Amino acid sequence: MMTSQKKGSSVRPRLRWEKLLATLALALLLPAPAAAQKKPAALDREGHPWWRHAVFYEIYPRSFADSNNDGIGDLKGITSHLNYLKSLGVDAIWITPCFPSPQVDFGYDVSNYTDIEPMYGTLADFDGMVARGRKDHIRVVLDFVMNHTSDRHPWFLQSKSSRSSEYRDWYIWRDGKPPDVSQPPMPPLDPNAPGGEQPPNNWTSIFGGTAWKYDPTTQQWYYHFFDPAQPDLNWRNPKVHDAMFRAARFWFERGVAGFRLDAVDTLFEDPDLRDNPPLPNVILRDAAGNPLPNAVPGKDAYGMPLQRRIYNDNLPENHVVLQQLRQLADQYGAVLIGETWTENIAQLREYYGESKAEIQLPMDFLFANVNRLSAPEFRRQVALVESAGGWPVYLFSNHDITRAYNRYGGPHPTDQVAKLLAGLLLTLRGTPILYYGEELGMENRDPVSREEVQDPIGVRGWPLEKGRDGERTPMQWTSGPNAGFTSGKPWLPIAANYQTHNVESESRDPNSVLNFYRAAIRLRHRNMALVEGNYVALNERDPNVMAYLRQYRGHALLVALNMSPQAQTVSLDLSGQGYGVKARLHALLTSNAARDQKPASMKLEPYGVFIGELKK
Ligand code: GLC
Repeated sequence: MMTSQKKGSSVRPRLRWEKLLATLALALLLPAPAAAQKKPAALDREGHPWWRHAVFYEIYPRSFADSNNDGIGDLKGITSHLNYLKSLGVDAIWITPCFPSPQVDFGYDVSNYTDIEPMYGTLADFDGMVARGRKDHIRVVLDFVMNHTSDRHPWFLQSKSSRSSEYRDWYIWRDGKPPDVSQPPMPPLDPNAPGGEQPPNNWTSIFGGTAWKYDPTTQQWYYHFFDPAQPDLNWRNPKVHDAMFRAARFWFERGVAGFRLDAVDTLFEDPDLRDNPPLPNVILRDAAGNPLPNAVPGKDAYGMPLQRRIYNDNLPENHVVLQQLRQLADQYGAVLIGETWTENIAQLREYYGESKAEIQLPMDFLFANVNRLSAPEFRRQVALVESAGGWPVYLFSNHDITRAYNRYGGPHPTDQVAKLLAGLLLTLRGTPILYYGEELGMENRDPVSREEVQDPIGVRGWPLEKGRDGERTPMQWTSGPNAGFTSGKPWLPIAANYQTHNVESESRDPNSVLNFYRAAIRLRHRNMALVEGNYVALNERDPNVMAYLRQYRGHALLVALNMSPQAQTVSLDLSGQGYGVKARLHALLTSNAARDQKPASMKLEPYGVFIGELKK
């Protein structure tokens, strides 16, 4: 599905003497753990927190670099490529979950919050990665899955063992409802439920089907917002709260610079489990707003009734936990990045925290949801995010969203469009998050048949929901076999454009997408105006060209982005900003645009980018 809408969302962690001695002996043999090494400063020279100036880079560890050639990426693979990320200009990496997991949802089903998945390496590999990152000035951010655990986590195994287990109340268990003959049954009924028993309410899972699974042993149902293998934790239980905060502290102590918080909007549910109102007239649409072929009004991709999730999404209690987590993060100078799927800016504003500080960087998916190159729509969304009162964070793609190269490039994506997107992402006032491979122009490679699909939502939703395999294909390092990702069999096929779009080839080509990203990031790091400068929209009625100033202490940079496939000429009147007719431009970075330009008549070729310094 060509959309930035979240895939699967249908409308949306007794010290004994011998142990102590062993630890001391080991400490003399091993290098100091990362946390004991010199910590990078939390504030820059001007007193701004580090994450405001950082360029973040998301890594899907299964797909980044495979050091042992088993076809699946790993931590040593990441460590060995930190030099590449350093040359790109990346300041922090966010690694999607690398904790022990049965991998039903590829790590988002955690079975131990304080260890490393063996497939990805060991805690020593993790420490090695953090230590190497410190040398290269690259911080490590982990992904904290707070909403749910794996159904094989020891907490859940205990919880489901008996109704009287001390862990029973760590999850959400309820009795089912007797079959109601006057209503059509909730499809698909759990085949294990006795005599047509119905789930406790009408909530649907965004991974398909009812959000409840019947457990024959204890004869109750447990709640799962995502996959049945991802039972929701009961955040109303203080023991859950304490256990999860201990896990967070474990990683902060180990040197992580922050967390990307997974699924933070779904931590709490209505205690009375009231039914969600249905949306009978809504129809699933693609990025362009067209109804999806074969979509049925009122039904999600899995044939379930669409509903407005007012009783299990975005409850006010979420904010209380996030404010407490922020207090913990602040003790370590750490950053919290929220997976915040909001419907409007008012909701986004709440995540920054109103009376109490909350998430520093709540992601604005409404920006990524501008699914077409439209100057008015991006201008409007940036203005809205600017008005939210917090520090903006921008991204185009991630492991749940069709890659930007395809979303904005349409059926025939071009590098010009990829450079235009870099021009926008890296010059806005806000922290940019790149998705691995975005800097190469990596494209989506959706599965061609259901048999090929690995993502559980694609298996369940095929063909309306093809799942997220397409945006998770292996990183393209070379034009050689398996794009240099592995010499084994890669866990997902390589995307088709790897022979032209890979690190090796693009590093040699001065006009490559990669070298444009490098130049844009370098520019951002060298120009305070591009980081801390005010954002001033220009020419706000222009339907094709998005233009703006970034102003900092009497210094101004002008950015002009032609979002159309035709050449455009724009006349910018900067008298309101104190620049007269004699104002000149000194080009700093361009793509498909002449370097010699005047604000009064700027010419941009299709998808052209001009970034220059404004001189009086
Ligand atoms: C988040 C993750 C997604 C995962 C889901 C369940 O949305 O980004 O990949 O499937 O949470 O943990």
